[in-house]
Amino acid sequence: MNILTGALPAECKQGGVVRNIGCGNSEVGKKMIESRLASVVLSVDIAEGAVQALSSKQDSTTPPPKPPSPGIEEFLVLDATNLPLRTTSSIDWIFDKGTLDGLMYQSDAMDVLRRIWDEAKRGLAPHGVFVLVSLWKPEGRLSLIEDTLGGRVVDRCFEIEGLVGQGMRMEGGLSGVDRCYVYVCSPVSDSK
Ligand SMILES: C[S@@+](CC[C@H](N)C(=O)[O-])C[C@H]1O[C@@H](n2cnc3c(N)ncnc32)[C@H](O)[C@@H]1O
Repeated sequence: MNILTGALPAECKQGGVVRNIGCGNSEVGKKMIESRLASVVLSVDIAEGAVQALSSKQDSTTPPPKPPSPGIEEFLVLDATNLPLRTTSSIDWIFDKGTLDGLMYQSDAMDVLRRIWDEAKRGLAPHGVFVLVSLWKPEGRLSLIEDTLGGRVVDRCFEIEGLVGQGMRMEGGLSGVDRCYVYVCSPVSDSK
C-alpha cells in the first residue's frame, strides 16, 4: 500500500470518500484509512460471503483504535452495476483492484463494465478520478478504458512491482504475481 500511496496523484491523498468496487476479501480499504488516503471507504461487493467475511475479519482482528481511527470503512453487499444510492457526485475517487480484470471473463463483460462505468460517473464528484489496478499492461487496457468503455482518459499509468506481501497481491489463485498497473482515469471533459 505504501507503494500505491506514492503512486497516486495528489487528489487521491486527501482523506476523501472512496468507493471500493468489488472489495472481495482484500483489506485494501483498511489500509487506505490507515495511510490516510481515505476517511470513508464504501467497500462494495456483490458476493455476500466476501463482504461478511471481510467485515467480520476486521471486527475480530482490529484492536480498539488508539488513537481513534482516522476513518471508517462500510461494507455493502451491492451490485456495482446498479447501486441503490441516492447521492450523486459525492465520491472523491473510485477504486477497483482486480474487479474489471475478473469481469473480463464473463460473456456479457462489456455490458457489465459499461454499467459499472456509468454508476461510477454518477457517483463521482466533478474532481473525482477512477483508479483502476489491473494485472494488464497498458497495451491491454488503454484502448479498453478510452475507446471501448469511453468517457474517460488515462491521465497517469504506473507499473508497480514488489506488491506481494504488501496487501496488494491479487487474491484467489494468482499467487506469484508481483506487479500490476495503476490507471488513474479522469472524465474526458477534464482532459485537454
Ligand atoms: C478478482 S476479485 C477482486 C477482489 C478484491 N478487489 C481484491 O483485490 O482482492 C473481484 C470481485 O468483484 C466482485 N464482483 C463481481 N461482480 C460484481 C458486481 N457487479 N458488483 C460488485 N462486485 C462485483 C466479486 O464478487 C469479487 O469479490
